[in-house]
Amino acid sequence: MTIFTKSFEIFCGTGGVGKTTLATSRALALAAQEHRVLLITIDPARRLKDLLGLSNDSIGEVTAVDMNGIKLHALLMSPEKTIQRMSKKYQTPDLASNRIVKILSKPYGGMNEILSLVEVQMQFETSQYDVIVLDTPPGAHFLDFLEGISKIRSFFDQSFVEMFSYLGTKTAHASKRMLGIRIINKVISGGVKKLLSYLQKVTDAKFIDDFIEAVQIIYQSKEAFLKGLNLQDRLKSNSECNWFLVTSVEQGKAAEAVEMKSHATHFIHQDHFLVLNKCLEQEMMNWFPEASNLMALKNSLETREKELKKNLKSQFPVVLEFPEIMSKDPIEHVNNLTKKWASYAK
Ligand SMILES: Nc1ncnc2c1ncn2[C@@H]1O[C@H](COP(=O)(O)OP(=O)(O)OP(=O)(O)O)[C@@H](O)[C@H]1O
Ligand SMILES: [Mg+2]
Repeated sequence: MTIFTKSFEIFCGTGGVGKTTLATSRALALAAQEHRVLLITIDPARRLKDLLGLSNDSIGEVTAVDMNGIKLHALLMSPEKTIQRMSKKYQTPDLASNRIVKILSKPYGGMNEILSLVEVQMQFETSQYDVIVLDTPPGAHFLDFLEGISKIRSFFDQSFVEMFSYLGTKTAHASKRMLGIRIINKVISGGVKKLLSYLQKVTDAKFIDDFIEAVQIIYQSKEAFLKGLNLQDRLKSNSECNWFLVTSVEQGKAAEAVEMKSHATHFIHQDHFLVLNKCLEQEMMNWFPEASNLMALKNSLETREKELKKNLKSQFPVVLEFPEIMSKDPIEHVNNLTKKWASYAK
């Protein structure tokens, strides 16, 4: 089995199956083959930081990493830093100080996902990397976001957003701001209006001002966002992107992977890989317990894993098996799995 290297390689899957560990080891295996690799994590848990021994200062910055002589670059996504880079590149307003944008930029806030696409696009445009490996947060949220891209695109096309761009900024004349509020009242539905007036009460009277400003500055950054959204064509393409849907032999995890695949029928193209992590088969072959109850346990584990593999192979085009590494050290997990990737590499 040979896996051809692509410009983008995305690791997704449910919680704790080994996405970060596998993405890191894949990135190291590719870097060891002289590919110029950027490893990006949008995992808010930042486990990559510990794995690569990065400092707090590196958060949000592309950082050179040397792991046992293998050199690559890594980036722990930070919405604020991406916004700053975006402002510089596209000369757009610095969104980061607006409090609505701040809320949206929190993990699972919605903004985080679109910013990660903008970031990947900006890094791709530097032409400094042959491969960008992306480690995503657990669950289907990111995939749902990708699937919803057309809706986001239409947000930028809706005429009411155009109206906001005519409105004054916070420093504009009060009558202009009133006009903004009147337009909001006119354009948006009763339900949203109720929500806004409720929020105005429970937050403070400036809420609507901040809301108008957020819409305006997001709209002024339209070009950067649309470019990020355009990345979808590359991610959907078999020649440009490898999708690794990660799962493990632990109870129930495989069912979650099957469920996740159904979330992203557009993005996870036909030639994706199902990565089955923490397989015990290899280890079991060298284990000959004398006690009969342990022998029964061994047989039961073996049978369960065999059935799981058979089942997955009937549902996924390619199943890649990665062994459970018998160690407590996460670095050792990465180093061992890097060797496994090397055996697949091209
Ligand atoms: N093949 C393996 N053998 C043994 N341990 C592993 C293996 N792969 C991953 N692990 C360990 O499992 C734990 C979870 O791995 P990891 O953090 O990579 O998962 P994740 O899917 O990124 O988790 P999250 O969903 O929280 O982001 C870590 O302690 C990691 O070192
Ligand atoms: Mg992770």
